[in-house]
Amino acid sequence: MRTVCDNQSMIAERLNRIAPFRVMQLMERAKALEAQGHRVVHFEVGEPDFDTADPIVQAGQRALAAGHTKYTQALGTPELRARIARYYEESAGISVAPERIVVTSGASGGLLLLAGLLLDPGDELLMPDPGYPCNEVFVGMVNATPARINVEADEGFQVTPDGLARAWTDRARGLLLGAPANPTGALPSRERLRTLIDAVHARDGVFLLDEIYQGLIYGETGDQPEYRSGLTVSDDIFVLNSFSKYFGMTGWRLGWMVLPEAYLDGVSRLAQNLFISPSSIAQHAALAAFEPDAMQIHEARRCEFARRRDRLSAGLRDLGLSIPVDPQGAFYLYVDVSASGLDSETFCWRLIDEYQVAVTPGIDFGSHLADRYVRFAYTTGDEDIDMGLARIRDALEAWSRS
Ligand SMILES: Cc1ncc(COP(=O)(O)O)c(C=O)c1O
Repeated sequence: MRTVCDNQSMIAERLNRIAPFRVMQLMERAKALEAQGHRVVHFEVGEPDFDTADPIVQAGQRALAAGHTKYTQALGTPELRARIARYYEESAGISVAPERIVVTSGASGGLLLLAGLLLDPGDELLMPDPGYPCNEVFVGMVNATPARINVEADEGFQVTPDGLARAWTDRARGLLLGAPANPTGALPSRERLRTLIDAVHARDGVFLLDEIYQGLIYGETGDQPEYRSGLTVSDDIFVLNSFSKYFGMTGWRLGWMVLPEAYLDGVSRLAQNLFISPSSIAQHAALAAFEPDAMQIHEARRCEFARRRDRLSAGLRDLGLSIPVDPQGAFYLYVDVSASGLDSETFCWRLIDEYQVAVTPGIDFGSHLADRYVRFAYTTGDEDIDMGLARIRDALEAWSRS
C-alpha cells in the first residue's frame, strides 16, 4: 500500500530554492578517484588541514574525564563568555561585556539565530555575490529573502556605498558582510567598513559582520591587520565568529556572536528553544584556545597560511591565470580561469577528471562572475601545492592545443 512517504510530495517548497553544492559532487568524484588509487590534490576544502592544537585537545579530554557532559547555559558557560570578552581586550584593546557574548553551535548556529532574531517573512537581507552560499539558506529558513549585491574585481570585491544604495528596497532589513570574505578573501578597510555601517544605520537597518576568518588576516606581507574586529569601528553591529578556522576546531562545532544588549533576551529565547545549549565539551576545550601555548600554535599556522597564499598565487599567475584581487585573509584565492578557454564549471570537472586536481566552481558562491571564477583553498601543504600547479600547467598546455 502506498503511503504519503512514498513520494516527495510532502517536501517543503523551500527545498526547491536550496541548490546542492557543485563542490560536493566534485568531492564525490575525488573520492572515487582516490578509491581507484589516484593521488588527488585538494584545493577545494574549506577547513584547515591542521589538527586542533594539542592544548585544546588535552583540555577537551580533561573535560570529558571530569564529566562535563551535560547541557550548559543556553548562551554558553559564564567562563567561556568571560574568556571571549578578555580575548577582545587582549587582541583588539576593546571592552565587550561578557553578557553580550553568545556562544553558538558554530557560526552556522549563530547565522540561524540571527535570521530568526532579525527577519520576518518577506524581509530582505542584503549580501554580496559572490559570497558564502549558506547565508541564503539561513535567510530562506525564516521565509525571508536574500538579496545579492554584485561585487566587482575592480572594486576589490567589496560592497560599495553605491551598490548598497542600489540594492536597498523597502523590504531590506540589513546587510550581512564577511570580513575577510569567503570566497574572495577580501577585507573592507576600516574606512569602508565605517561608511557601510553608517549607510545601513542611516536606513534603519542592521549591520551583520561575519568575522569567522578574523584571525586569518595577512595584509600585503603576512603582517598584522589594520583593525581587529569591526567592533573597534562600531559597537552597534551584530558580529559572528567561530572556533572553526583560526582556532582550528571545525569538528567541535563552536562559535560565538557579540550582540547589542537590546537583543539578548530575544536571542536567549531562540537559543534555548532551537539548541538548548552549545556543546559542553567543546566549550571547556575552547577555554584553552586563548592561552599562550595554543595562541602560539594558531599564530604559527596563520603565518604558514600567509606563506602558502603567496606560493599558490605566484604559481597560478605564472601559469597565466588571473587573481585580480590579492586576498587579505581567509585561506582562499578567487581565480579568474577564463584564460583557459573554458567556463569555470567545465574547468573544474576537466581538472578533476583528467588531472585529479579538485577546486570549487564559482557557481557555488552565487551567479555573478560565476562562469569565470574558481575558488582555490590553500588548506594543503607545499608538496600538494607544487604538484597541483604542475598538473594545472599540463592541463592548460594540453587544453590550449586541443
Ligand atoms: C563565511 C563563513 N561563515 C560561516 C561559516 C560556518 O562555519 P562554522 O559553522 O564551522 O563556524 C563558514 C564555513 O565555511 C564560512 O566560510
